[in-house]
Amino acid sequence: MNIILMGPPGAGKGTQAKRLIEDYNLTQLSTGDLLRNAISRGEELGLKAREYMNKGRLVPDEVILGLVKEEFKRGNLSNGFILDGFPRTRSQAESLDKVLTETGMVLNFVIVLEVKDESVVERLCGRRICKDCGASYHICFHPSRENDKCDICGGVLFQRDDDKEHTIRNRLIVYHQQTEEVTEFYNPTGKVVFIEGEGSIDDIYHQIKLHLNK
Ligand code: AP5
Repeated sequence: MNIILMGPPGAGKGTQAKRLIEDYNLTQLSTGDLLRNAISRGEELGLKAREYMNKGRLVPDEVILGLVKEEFKRGNLSNGFILDGFPRTRSQAESLDKVLTETGMVLNFVIVLEVKDESVVERLCGRRICKDCGASYHICFHPSRENDKCDICGGVLFQRDDDKEHTIRNRLIVYHQQTEEVTEFYNPTGKVVFIEGEGSIDDIYHQIKLHLNK
């Protein structure tokens, strides 16, 4: 099964993707994670991308497409994938279509998590991430047992640079201006599923599964 998971920043894409990869044995491809890995390795590409990310802007398409094509070439996604945070522009969606045709893969679902802007701000201002294993927490909605320590590995929790309110609001503007319309690109395929992204993480996951298992 091949899925695109869409929605505004903080919609819960990463949270839901983690569950889906376990239940359906899929591979997650998060362009945000690929970029953050490149930053932490000090790669030139990552350092350039960081300037865009910290302003809440989209990283140029050619950089993103280079990263995505590399992942497809490696063959990591051939057993089924979840694309998290990609495509984010119409031109990325068109390029993905070409890649899928070249690799003989088919898209099954485009899941769009719908969340209000103010919920996004609340979620992202309170998000904390483990430096070591990447587990995600929220200071109110999903707190770790011990302050600033990961429940899973004991690593230190930190706040992403782009999870400051001003940057979150810029990310939302970019989402509404450039990414929201990508669903229109997929509408004619009949594969788009809109899911209410407000509510408990479990309930939202249940809704997603209902659609996937139809
Ligand atoms: P990226 O890393 O993709 O970030 P994003 O899309 O902004 O999404 P997030 O990771 O912030 O949120 P999420 O939807 O995964 O939510 P999560 O599950 O963590 O991109 C970062 C940047 O990289 C972009 O701004 C851009 O600059 C660049 N970039 C990346 N891809 C690109 C592309 N294709 N093209 C160009 N540039 C690109 O949840 C958030 C919080 O909410 C957590 O604390 C979680 O615990 C909590 N939470 C989750 N679900 C619920 C719930 N139901 N109720 C309450 N709290 C919840």
